[in-house]
Amino acid sequence: MARQKWGSRWAFVLAAIGSAAGLGNAWRFPYMAYSNGGGAFYIPYFVALFIAGIPLLMAEFAIGQGLQASAPKAMSKISKNAEFIGWWAVITGAIITFYYNVIMAWIFNYLYYSLGVAWKDDPKGFFFGDFLKLTDGPGQLGGLRLPVVIGLLITWIWIFLILRKGTESVGKTVMWTVPLPVILLILLGIRGVTLPGAATGLNYLFEPNFAKLAEPRVWANAFGQIFFSLSLAFGIMIAYGSYNDKKNDIANNSIITALGNSATSFLAGIAVFSVLGYMAQQMSVPVNEVVSGGIGLAFVVYPQAISLIPGGVIVQSIFGLAFFIMLLTLGIDSAFSLVEAVEASAGDKFKINKKSFLIGFSILGFIFGLLFSTQGGLYWLDIIDHYMGTYALLVVGILESILIGWIFGADKLREYINSVSEIKIGKWFDFSLKFVIPLVLLFILGLTFADEIKNPYEGYPGWALTTGLIVFILVPVLALIFAKMPSKDDKYNIKATEITFEEE
Ligand code: ALA
Repeated sequence: MARQKWGSRWAFVLAAIGSAAGLGNAWRFPYMAYSNGGGAFYIPYFVALFIAGIPLLMAEFAIGQGLQASAPKAMSKISKNAEFIGWWAVITGAIITFYYNVIMAWIFNYLYYSLGVAWKDDPKGFFFGDFLKLTDGPGQLGGLRLPVVIGLLITWIWIFLILRKGTESVGKTVMWTVPLPVILLILLGIRGVTLPGAATGLNYLFEPNFAKLAEPRVWANAFGQIFFSLSLAFGIMIAYGSYNDKKNDIANNSIITALGNSATSFLAGIAVFSVLGYMAQQMSVPVNEVVSGGIGLAFVVYPQAISLIPGGVIVQSIFGLAFFIMLLTLGIDSAFSLVEAVEASAGDKFKINKKSFLIGFSILGFIFGLLFSTQGGLYWLDIIDHYMGTYALLVVGILESILIGWIFGADKLREYINSVSEIKIGKWFDFSLKFVIPLVLLFILGLTFADEIKNPYEGYPGWALTTGLIVFILVPVLALIFAKMPSKDDKYNIKATEITFEEE
């Protein structure tokens, strides 16, 4: 069966930007910036974007497109023993989807709560108490939160509906789910910066705090954030690239995707931090004391700001709706791209029926998501995100860059990229893939791990963090098992020593 194709270059670029720009930009980025010293975060963030993010994005698009294969298949074509790296990437992505969709479920609920501003003047108590009914720690799961379970069900059904016709239905969806959140973010940003006190919030976001740069964790978080945000090391961009013609532009598309993604993070940063400044002024406290940072930032800060906006409940409800529709439409393209990466990989290897796979995987995802939908689910979401969203992505990033840079050959990939792209890339690309990405990431990982042993993450009990670590270790084991299974495609493992324009 012929590989599905994007309807146009723009369908691909929008889908790629849609995958990159997601909750990572509007939910994860602001609290990452907030808890890593505000403006201090930008320096490692940009370093990570330029030295690792953009080159790896080009490499992922290029191997997907050039080899016309999902991550595991592409990697097995480079070296048979490397197939597991591709599976490691997509299984990590699959686990991330399990909790990512729970956050989507929270957003669905908040869409409803926005009508009439259900959190009134205590958004923190409302989020952790009334809504999540959060327990005292990860050891107490408590019961399932029905509203979250319902939101989770809706999210999985929505993803199924979007993916069921592959690139055709995805292409139609991204035409509105990519521009809409950007327009809403611009409107929210404009309202935010015109609130009194906004400047203090923005100063907090943009003013560098150099002392923070000495902390290895800040660097690991920045690299992890770039990977998470650009959807790198999940196998997504490889799968998306594989639905292009071999002659499609790569360099330019990567730069558009990366810049579009960072611009969305900035807009989200401005929208969220301007209202933090406003709140700080209303409450007469410094910005860093407005909220306790962390995972709930978007669900506590913004609602709180909404309650403070003058104009009564109707105006406030409209604001709430705009914010949560923005989050939903921003998140959905990332959520389904995570699923698409898994589906493309399973499809390439096992030649399974797309629709049956989607149904099966959605049910599985829903069931795993139930863990995060319990009263203690937030703790597990945070712990698993710590291991998957930071460590796993970094490890896969290292292995991927070594595989592509050294075994396939960065020079050969660069030649291919240059043969199809408007912008020509220089030898820095080889240097980045072969040396900079693996060495810098290894160094950061080593330092962070050492630091983590001294100061366990967020003070969680040792057994809970060990559980997260076990999940982290089990993923490559599972990846190896998948890699060892025989493929239903007899051309699956044909080695590719270079990229040709001939059909397979
Ligand atoms: N890249 C996606 C996001 O940022 C996963 O949310």
